[in-house]
Amino acid sequence: MNTVLVGTQWGDEGKGKIIDILAKNFDYIVRYQGGNNAGHTVIVENQEFVFHLIPSGILYPGKMCCIGNGVVIDPEVFFEELTALKNKGIEFKNRLKVSLMAHVIFPYHRILDVLRETKRTNKIGTTGRGIGPCYSDKINRCGIRVVDLLNKDILKEKLLDNLKEKNEIFKKVYNHKGFSFDDIYSTYLSYGEKFREYACDVVSLLYDANKNRMPILFEGAQGTFLDIDFGTYPFVTSSNATSGGAPIGSGLALTKIDKIIGVAKAYTTRVGEGPFPTEFDKDFAQKIRGIGKEFGATTGRPRRCGWFDAVLVKTAVDINGINDLVITKLDVLDSLEKIKVCVGYEYKGKVFKTFPQDFEVLSNCQPVYKDFCGWQADTHKITKFSKLPKNAKNYLKIIEGLAGVRISLVSVGSKRKEMVKR
Ligand code: GDP
Ligand code: IMO
Ligand code: MG
Repeated sequence: MNTVLVGTQWGDEGKGKIIDILAKNFDYIVRYQGGNNAGHTVIVENQEFVFHLIPSGILYPGKMCCIGNGVVIDPEVFFEELTALKNKGIEFKNRLKVSLMAHVIFPYHRILDVLRETKRTNKIGTTGRGIGPCYSDKINRCGIRVVDLLNKDILKEKLLDNLKEKNEIFKKVYNHKGFSFDDIYSTYLSYGEKFREYACDVVSLLYDANKNRMPILFEGAQGTFLDIDFGTYPFVTSSNATSGGAPIGSGLALTKIDKIIGVAKAYTTRVGEGPFPTEFDKDFAQKIRGIGKEFGATTGRPRRCGWFDAVLVKTAVDINGINDLVITKLDVLDSLEKIKVCVGYEYKGKVFKTFPQDFEVLSNCQPVYKDFCGWQADTHKITKFSKLPKNAKNYLKIIEGLAGVRISLVSVGSKRKEMVKR
């Protein structure tokens, strides 16, 4: 069954861990959007791996891992990640493929990402990795793709064209000295040489895999509310993090996708700016951040924390077409006496049961909560749903009812074994 796994909140739901668990049932694991703004953590036998670009399935020997056309690739980060894998003894020869059509991040994208933020009234709090500017170039039809790095004449022409315009903007708008063609050209030509062993037609690869009944798992990055269309715009990332991004960002046809799995944290977190109706006050946020180790896997920034928002997750279920929900980090709530779940938003006397599109409402609404008694027991060694404390089961069943979809797995710790199957 070709399956897409997506985040249902604002990212960092624990997608990496779940991909790692599911990967054994698939032959291909594919990243289809985002770039090294993602940080997916997998812990195997006390060894921690944080993936930014490489699919989290790479830890399973023999699995094919692909980076689709929808991903933006920073070559420096890509090759650094490969070196780190090699140093940890992970073999990836002949099982890592990169789409020739994927767009490439250049130094000017990274710098522009940071400079643009300084000019905005409402800062987004981006990861500063050049993601937005690279996708802007793609849409503006001046982007440079992996295939272009393999042809020295084409790379020269495209890079000269880009720098002609960009260096003027850097100087006139940002008072920045701009970029030298020679430096970038020689560096990226050498990246091109290093890409030869990985770059290929991923569309045909996936088409053949599907024809040969080899199941494909799509690894979403970010989360539904960071999606460029469906997220809390403009506080979003620049790609389609929802399930619709999978066919677009990989080339496997929509009709070949069988299942959509959503991952939701048992509470909510967000890194960067933007509305967050169920956000905790400072002290409680600090407590949960401590227990859940809520610090960004990419930038190390403290994550904002809040109660589980069922309005948000139900909307994600609908937008993505989720037919299977995974709840992560239930263990983080183990010690709490009372737990709240947001079931609606109140704004100027009106209660919203669906996600409001009006930014004014979302930014100023009061969450409507249902209160629950906590379970105040350790869950991290439990592996069977029936063995969970009564109040934990109740909490999960309430979430299931509000989200309108079945929970198939509950994660109760960061390690592979710390998992409750239903
Ligand atoms: P992703 O971006 O969705 O892959 O998530 P991240 O890796 O950025 O953040 C999730 C963090 O929570 C990682 O540090 C994981 O090791 C950790 N984690 C995942 N599942 C669980 C869980 O069930 N319990 C606890 N305590 N930690 C978890
Ligand atoms: P994973 O895959 C959490 C957030 C940034 C910022 C906004 C835009 O690990 O869940 P960008 O650099 O993409 O232009 O930043 O999106 N953001 C993430 N937050 N997890 C992520 O990825 C994120 N990727 C981007 O913090 O608010
Ligand atoms: Mg992450």
